[in-house]
Order: sequence, then C-alpha cells, then structure tokens
Amino acid sequence: MAPSASAFTEMAWVVTGPTSGIGYRTALELAAHGTVILVGRSRAKLDDVEREIRSGGGNAVSVVADLSDVVSARSAATEIAALGMPIAGVLNNAGIMPLRPFTSVQGWDGAFATNHLGPFALTEALIPSLPDGTNVVFITSAVEDPERRIAVAAGFRGSRYISADASARGDWLSPGGSKLPGADAYASSKQGNLVTALAFAREFPRLRFNAVEPGVNPGSNLSRDSSVAVRLLAKYVISPIAPLFKYFTTPKRAAKVITTVLVNRSDSTGVYFDEKGRPMRGSVDAESPAFQDRYVAETRALLRTVPVDDLPSA
Ligand SMILES: NC(=O)c1ccc[n+]([C@@H]2O[C@H](COP(=O)([O-])OP(=O)(O)OC[C@H]3O[C@@H](n4cnc5c(N)ncnc54)[C@H](OP(=O)(O)O)[C@@H]3O)[C@@H](O)[C@H]2O)c1
Repeated sequence: MAPSASAFTEMAWVVTGPTSGIGYRTALELAAHGTVILVGRSRAKLDDVEREIRSGGGNAVSVVADLSDVVSARSAATEIAALGMPIAGVLNNAGIMPLRPFTSVQGWDGAFATNHLGPFALTEALIPSLPDGTNVVFITSAVEDPERRIAVAAGFRGSRYISADASARGDWLSPGGSKLPGADAYASSKQGNLVTALAFAREFPRLRFNAVEPGVNPGSNLSRDSSVAVRLLAKYVISPIAPLFKYFTTPKRAAKVITTVLVNRSDSTGVYFDEKGRPMRGSVDAESPAFQDRYVAETRALLRTVPVDDLPSA
C-alpha cells in the first residue's frame, strides 16, 4: 500500500515487532506522531496493522524482515534507508521467549539471534542513515538481572552470557545442560539489548540510545509457547487486573510509556527506564562499561562471520 503524499514531510518512527502485543500498541500510539515504518516477518500481519493505522487517519509503510536472520535484518535497514524518510526514532521491540531452543538460519541459537543479533545488525546497518538526535530505544527485560526477585521466583536465573560465540551455540554456563534453556537464552539475549543501548549511547553521541523494561505484560503473546490454559488465564484473567500489581502492566499502558520515552525531545541518552518511565538500574554486569564493550565487540566479531553482501534467503 502506498503512503499518502504528506507522509514524507513528517517524522517517521521505525517499529520492529508491530504485529502483536507491546509493539502493536506502540505502533498505533506513534501514528499520532508521524509515519510509522512497520518492520515484521509477516506481510499479511503488517498489512493489517498498516490498514488499521490508515483507517485512523495515520500513515504507515511496511518492511518485511525476519530478525532471526542477520541477512534479512541488514536488508531491512537498506530498505528503510531507501525510503528516504526523516527518521526521528527507532524502536527495537521484536522479541521471543521460546520454551525450547531452536536454530536460526545462520545456525545460531534462535532466541539469541532474534532478540539480540538481528536487532543489533539492523541498528548498526541503519545508523549511518539516522539523522542527528534520533532516539533509538531497545525494549529489554529485567530478567537479565540475577538479583531481580520476581524474575527469580518465575524461574529465571539472570543472564548466562559467557561470550557471543557461546550464546550463539546455546551454551548458558550449565555443566550437564540448562534446565530452562529458553529462559536462559531469553535473559542473556535481553541483556544484549540493554548493553547495546548503553554502549551505543557512549559510542555514538550524535544519536540517542535508551532502553525500556516494559513491565510484565500477561496480555501480550510473548508466552505463546505455553499451554492453551496458561495463555487464556494470562490474557483474560490476569491481564485485566495486571496494573494492580507491582511490575505488571498491559501492552496499551506499556505502549504509552514507550511512546513518551521515544518522542521525548530532550538530550537523554544511555538511560534505562522502567515500566512507569522512571530511570532504573540493570544488573551489575549490564551497568559495567567494560562488560558492555566486551558484549558489543564479541557480537560484532560474530556478525562479521556473515558477509555483508550475502543476499536474504528467498
Ligand atoms: N510481555 C512481557 O511481559 C515482556 C516483559 C519484558 C520485556 N518484553 C519484551 O517486549 C517486546 C515485545 O514483546 P511482547 O510481549 O509484545 O510479545 P509478542 O506479543 O509476542 O510480540 C512480539 C513481536 O515480535 C515479532 N517477532 C517475533 N519474532 C520475530 C522475527 N524473527 N522477526 C521479526 N519479528 C519477530 C512478532 O511478530 P509475529 O506477530 O509475526 O509473531 C511480534 O510482532 C519483546 O522484546 C520482549 O522481550 C516483554
């Protein structure tokens, strides 16, 4: 679908994972602030969101990309840059929390690839075409912190990052194997989002990089691998009362907080916001610039093993 002529004169906002949950709600919110560049893996689902934004009087364009595939992520950056739109913000939101491990196109742990490697590759490839002051926001998760009590109670043990190579192999520092490889992969990859935001904020001072922990959202589809009973309970019983509990929220509320962080025109960079939009602390590792730089350097070294001129798979 072609955007209307006025679309190219207003600010544009890139949103990954706009077809469900938090990203979907944020895309609808951002439509009030300019054109939304929707980045997702399903053309049909993107068309639905695009149609909904247009029917509300907004503008949207879609770019199809599978973020578990680094080549597809880089190709999306090229496509976004070719749109020639004045990008004001980028929301790295797409993410998964699979119960069981799987392997990406590049042969890497699927959750680590989808949550960290793909968004990292997309962002790095997009940086040269971002105007000064662009606000790049990464949606992370506090489960990266082994001291986060609510996450530990839910079975997480914080990030298990050893190195980017080890994470790509699905090695979560568990002699004899990980009991919950999905949780370990999720926590370690979400730490990747946080350290990327904090390291890039130092590395690219002409841009802004911030991170948001969006709160516990039982109303999203992140737990889509759970049993039908758990999903129904989460969506229809817990989600309506979620805001009554500490750390819990709804995709609609989370979207408002994320939109506020994204459209904020202050100079704030390198800030990690909680589900209410207040600055919060990450894990000890994530807050260490030396650790952030190691994580980023190892990620870059791993991504260099995939040549930049590789073509996306058909
Ligand atoms: N829900 C929570 O409690 C919670 C808490 C902390 C952090 N977060 C973070 O919030 C973000 C959004 O999650 P959510 O809760 O809104 O989950 P969700 O409802 O499952 O939405 C995830 C989005 O990511 C997209 N996506 C998944 N794999 C992709 C891939 N390979 N390539 C491109 N897009 C892909 C999905 O696309 P499809 O529609 O095609 O599947 C969907 O649009 C994630 O980064 C998550 O880690 C969530």
